[in-house]
Amino acid sequence: MKKIALIFLSLVWPLFSAAGQELMSPDGNLCLKFSLRNGDTPVYCLSYKGKPVIAESRLGFQLNNSGLHDWFEVAGTSRRTIDETWTPVWGEESSIRNHCNEMAVTLRQTSSDRRMTIRFRLFNDGLGFRYEFPDQDNLTYFVITDELTEFAMAGDHTAWWIPGDYDTQEYDYTKSRLSEIRGLLKGAISDNLSQTIFSDCGVQTSLQMKTDDGLYINLHEAALVDYPAMHLELDDSRLVFKAHLTPDPNGDKAYMQTPCTTPWRTVIVSENAADILSSRITLNLNEPCKIEDTSWIRPCKYVGVWWEMITNKSSWSYTNDLRSVHLDTDDLSLVKPNGTHAANNENVRKHIDFAAEHGFDAVLVEGWNIGWEDWFGNMKEYVFDFVTPYPDFDVQALNDYAHSKGVKLIMHHETSASPRNYERQLDTAYRFMNKYGYDAVKSGYVGNIIPKGNNHYNQWMVNHYLWAVKKAADYRIMVNAHEAVRPTGLCRTWPNLIGNESARGTEYQSFGGSKTFHVTVLPFTRLIGGPMDYTPGIFEQDIEKINPSNHSHVNCTIANQLGIYVAMSSPLQMAADLPETYERFMDAFQFIKDVALDWSESRYLEAEPGEYVTVARKAKGTGEWFVGNVTGEKDHISKISFSFLDSDKEYVATIYADAPDAHYRNNPQAYTIRTVRCNSKSTLVQKAVEGGGFAISFRESTPQDRKLKMLR
Ligand code: NOJ
Ligand code: CA
Repeated sequence: MKKIALIFLSLVWPLFSAAGQELMSPDGNLCLKFSLRNGDTPVYCLSYKGKPVIAESRLGFQLNNSGLHDWFEVAGTSRRTIDETWTPVWGEESSIRNHCNEMAVTLRQTSSDRRMTIRFRLFNDGLGFRYEFPDQDNLTYFVITDELTEFAMAGDHTAWWIPGDYDTQEYDYTKSRLSEIRGLLKGAISDNLSQTIFSDCGVQTSLQMKTDDGLYINLHEAALVDYPAMHLELDDSRLVFKAHLTPDPNGDKAYMQTPCTTPWRTVIVSENAADILSSRITLNLNEPCKIEDTSWIRPCKYVGVWWEMITNKSSWSYTNDLRSVHLDTDDLSLVKPNGTHAANNENVRKHIDFAAEHGFDAVLVEGWNIGWEDWFGNMKEYVFDFVTPYPDFDVQALNDYAHSKGVKLIMHHETSASPRNYERQLDTAYRFMNKYGYDAVKSGYVGNIIPKGNNHYNQWMVNHYLWAVKKAADYRIMVNAHEAVRPTGLCRTWPNLIGNESARGTEYQSFGGSKTFHVTVLPFTRLIGGPMDYTPGIFEQDIEKINPSNHSHVNCTIANQLGIYVAMSSPLQMAADLPETYERFMDAFQFIKDVALDWSESRYLEAEPGEYVTVARKAKGTGEWFVGNVTGEKDHISKISFSFLDSDKEYVATIYADAPDAHYRNNPQAYTIRTVRCNSKSTLVQKAVEGGGFAISFRESTPQDRKLKMLR
């Protein structure tokens, strides 16, 4: 009887497969359907509580010599449930649950006898899927010229987007309907620095959308390894996004060798915007940590010799004489100084003193090494050597001085977007860091990638960024890469990747300003892949006060800057303004000194992209709670319950907020600081202005606090 049933099953299986196979999320709200259109072309669709999220969408590839998108039959399907909990080295909580239902459909191309598996993982908060190419006779080395994956939208959603670009992510976001993107793209591009806008109507991931009936949909990718970054190309006549991979100089997309996989394509879905921020799909789809001993990886709060160069008050270079330093003489003392070099012994010592006095872990120093005098406008492959300091930067003495005060210096490697030069010197550069006691490097890739024809997000460069991180792990070095490809959760596997920029950071506030809603969009977009070295903490918004010839304005209030430290979690946080500016606002600066960097719990209290994000987090180790709010394009009144606090304790909350007359442009330094007693039953009603915010630190109350007002 059993035998008969088996024969029957294997007979009907191909028919059943062609008709479609379903996968439900553990809570039953999301439903994924896979089928073969016309009996041979793989497609999928996704629905949430019966509403379409992704309408029927194509899957597959175009290779240089053939197609991997039709002539398929289902060769087998396997299913399982994953439910495990893992511990990140650092992050937004001390343990993360990975709970999903998985379906892996293995396809056989009948015309070529080639196999490809599509692995779907359906979580309560979204979908991840990737393509896998097993070891097989008829597919070994192959070249992908186009990934055909589609994401068909079921309506003309609102989207927060930046233009597709192979070389920069440093754009202000635009909010529009999908159908408006084409018309708006031109304007969005013209006010930025793009070199390689790739196509007609393309945007970058992570892309945040909202449907008219209030469903939030986020598209991104996870575990981008040995593959080019994915953009999304919109066919706006049908509202269908298609994967657009970043090409190499030949126009090819990916060089593959079986067995291999693509990154995961992710679709996060929720009725509540705050759930998009608490989704851990991106991390869960990455491999577990590959570093055995992680004891040397530590969160880091830092100041830097940096903002003064970014505002053009002082210079990275020691001299204005082009090429003079490393070509004309070996005796660096003969080189003519320009008198504006920031990374000089005295200034670095001042920053070390400031860091030590206020409890910071580290001081970043940029412009310490020769090469800056040669670099700008120079497309030569060799510019920097990463081991030769300018004559006024005593690398040994400054590191000794810092260490004597319990502070580390952070190394800076501007690669001048010349990865081959960097790769050739990387061991030497990391050894130099080990020798002097640096344990973290900020790297950067400004400019067009050399050799020419390459770009920042193609497969070769994606491999380069990860290679630099892996090699750094060998030297016990933490990495914070700027201008590198957008993160896709790789910090789970390589937690020494403690930061990335990969979006428009605070520096743009000195290059003309950013939109007031920027930091309320970033958590929904850039941060889906991992933490950002946003470099917050600017207290002087009028840049002319720092450099009279820089007329830029920082478009936010001081309270907003404080809110960022909690709203945009990162194990690496800078206090980016000048020490002398902080000296004027020591009461507000106290929050930056107090705030934690690593969390055991995070609660997303309220969020709406472009409008507000309010988060409560509990510090790992101390158990202290902090709250941060950032507010976007219009004023916002938060009404938040303190129910996250321990119910048997009383606390004192210090609330740093916009003053009633604060304004991001006209009155950004108007803030109030008040202390109240509170407990888990207290509710706070707090206003933040456009580009404003608030920040709260909590401590347990003592009998001396009795005189303080109780917040009910
Ligand atoms: C751009 C980076 O984002 C910035 O932080 C850095 O100071 C400059 N490049 C110089 O490397
Ligand atoms: Ca940058």
